[in-house]
Amino acid sequence: MRSFVKIASVVLLLAWIPAALAFSPPKKDTVATTATTEAGGTPAADDPLLAGADLERGKVVYQRIGLCVSCHGWDGNGMGKNPRSEGAAAHLRETQLDTQGLMDVIKCGVPTTPMPFHFSSAYRDPEVCFGAVMADFEPGTEPRKGTTFRDKDLVSLVAYIKTAIIGAGETTLEQCEAYFEPGSKACDNLR
Ligand code: HEC
Repeated sequence: MRSFVKIASVVLLLAWIPAALAFSPPKKDTVATTATTEAGGTPAADDPLLAGADLERGKVVYQRIGLCVSCHGWDGNGMGKNPRSEGAAAHLRETQLDTQGLMDVIKCGVPTTPMPFHFSSAYRDPEVCFGAVMADFEPGTEPRKGTTFRDKDLVSLVAYIKTAIIGAGETTLEQCEAYFEPGSKACDNLR
């Protein structure tokens, strides 16, 4: 019986290989080659950690899935209105973190601060965040849980942050209208 199971799974595995080789990611899943960033020195488009990123998807994650905007603000200045860190989240345009650093903070959060973790396996599987699980934290200092999303969304989110926020210099009316829409009231303070 055992060996039958083994053989059956090898056959299944072999059946998968042609399908895996035939797969290639869709074209729109690539970062625009003009994208550049000042922090970390590596343009998002040339960063191997960000291969396959989709900037449009990254914006959706920043706005609506990760709700990063509620604390960090649309332009990343940290002035979001979320009462957990009202006007006091990190200023992402000035962060010194490189790609890996951004990914780690987003996956694992910053324990003891309002910055939540966003991987469902964080602090369950010790491999994911610094060898730690929830039970390692003193009561009241446990990392906060944010919304969760997949690895591929993390890649798109970080590419978006590096391109549209960290690499974007001073906040401008143009950027604001690109984020919201032309003529948006949300940009009145920049007019
Ligand atoms: C509830 C509010 C809140 C939410 C939601 C939130 N953050 Fe944060 N974030 C913070 C705060 C507060 C800090 C500062 C933590 C500290 O004191 O080190 C921070 C820190 C960070 C940092 C570290 C910056 C640095 O230079 O050290 C990054 C990167 C970051 N957040 C990205 C994100 C992203 C991306 C999302 C959405 C997926 C997100 N945050 C969601 C509040 C939030």
